[in-house]
Amino acid sequence: MKTKIFKKEDLQEAAELLSSGELVAFPTETVYGLGAVACNPDAVAKVFEAKKRPSFDPLIVHVISRKQVEKLVKELPEKAVALMDAFWPGPLTIILPKTDIVPDIVTSGLETVALRHPNHPIAQKLIELSGEPLAAPSANLFTHTSPTSADVVLSMLDGRIEGIVDEGTCAVGIESTVISLAEEKPTLFRPGGITVEMIKEVIGEIYVAPPTGHLSTAPGRHMKHYAPRTPMLLDETPSVAQKDKKLAQLCFCDTDKKEEIFEEIAVLSPKGDLREAARNLYAAMRRLDGSGVDTIFATSVPQEGLGIAINDRLTRASGH
Ligand code: TXA
Ligand code: MG
Repeated sequence: MKTKIFKKEDLQEAAELLSSGELVAFPTETVYGLGAVACNPDAVAKVFEAKKRPSFDPLIVHVISRKQVEKLVKELPEKAVALMDAFWPGPLTIILPKTDIVPDIVTSGLETVALRHPNHPIAQKLIELSGEPLAAPSANLFTHTSPTSADVVLSMLDGRIEGIVDEGTCAVGIESTVISLAEEKPTLFRPGGITVEMIKEVIGEIYVAPPTGHLSTAPGRHMKHYAPRTPMLLDETPSVAQKDKKLAQLCFCDTDKKEEIFEEIAVLSPKGDLREAARNLYAAMRRLDGSGVDTIFATSVPQEGLGIAINDRLTRASGH
């Protein structure tokens, strides 16, 4: 198949493809998603195929209204409503017990479904035009970094999906925060655009799951998940032997740069702004990965606010 590039004027055509059971990638405020009508199991199966994603890793369902949420979940606890009111539309994914309307293939057989109301006009319009919630994982091949622009989606999925809606780069740059309200205590599975402090202000104490953990409840939390193909080390300095190789540095701000050691350097935010760093993270990893170096030496960013999500991705990418 030839993958079509759509602009925002062509959303009707893109929505029709989705309704007919095809896959279309689209921008959200976090990263590009690979969409399929959530309640069409055949379409959802194509998502796993196109991404080469193992079937045990469930998808996020994207919604635009309370009405859609109510059809998909068994109950809507007070804390869920509070989180939705505070952070939707936005980069927060909420896991709740699912109804039978949600096909098992979407949730990899789990009794829960992950829901998110994206804060991006294109994503919202596509859900509105297709008239149904859209299942959409990040639009990358399995284990690759999430795409923050349409050309990166195309580089991985050209010929594997029907279309991509191209609408520039994503404002947040890293994936949504994932919180489960289906556990005994609200549990953070993935740090992201909405920080732990922001969530605590709304619903009180939450349990922050360590980066690896039960695969049964949070199947997507493989350590090596956001990976460049070039070996990446976190917070290490090159050994004497390594100094003869071509080395790259991935660092937070200008003052971290070590030009005398590294051939290639990517600075996430010259002045040290965590939002800018999040926005640039995946493009920077991808550039260094493609630069032909032997090893990437990354340094973690301040462990606060969005920095927690950035460090989480850096840790996973470096495969520790
Ligand atoms: O920002 C985002 O969340 C982007 C955009 C496109 O919305 N989507 C995204 O999807 O990052 P994905 O599939 O790459 O990551 C979703 C994560 C996975 O780690 C998956 O395992 C987890 O959420 N997940 C989905 N449903 C779950 C469930 N019912 N229980 C536990 N974890 C779940
Ligand atoms: Mg992903």
